[in-house]
Amino acid sequence: MNTASFTTEAIQQAIAQGAITEAYQADPQQVIAALNQLRATEVTSYLQYKQHAYMAVSLFAPGLKNDFEAHATLELHHADLLAQRIQQLGGVPLYSPVDIAAQAASVGVRPEQGPTLREMIIENLLLERQQVAAYTSLIREIGDSDPTTRRLLLEILADTERHASELTDYLKSTAEVRS
Ligand SMILES: [Fe+2]
Ligand SMILES: [Fe+2]
Repeated sequence: MNTASFTTEAIQQAIAQGAITEAYQADPQQVIAALNQLRATEVTSYLQYKQHAYMAVSLFAPGLKNDFEAHATLELHHADLLAQRIQQLGGVPLYSPVDIAAQAASVGVRPEQGPTLREMIIENLLLERQQVAAYTSLIREIGDSDPTTRRLLLEILADTERHASELTDYLKSTAEVRS
């Protein structure tokens, strides 16, 4: 390509801004901060599901350990997707455990490990529901100002709603067995 037809200024701007053009209508710093906050909840969710997988050794529900493990893997994938987008927008994904814990706690998310499987499932359901609410609000806020971030958030929201619904189904089915 012949770069001679571009001004030095245009080339410098392109290098500095990467994927962000003047058509981008969101505030990148605000989006980066919101994505880092959501990512902190995903890392917390990953740690919580892993912990539950370690602790779920009930003979009555042998499949739960694998379910927790599968959910943990997907939460880490969500964290990765958000980190990639943060980097593309010119930001830095939070990597200090202290910062990650503080960001998650600022939206009321902390890893929990209840004494029974049922309590663990309820803890996971509550966390998934907090995320459903947070993703839905951010998607609405972003509107069409940042289509790529929006599409990514929609994808993660669909997984999160599926998780919440699976956990609810499990709680309902086990309650029916007991009654
Ligand atoms: Fe997730
Ligand atoms: Fe989830």
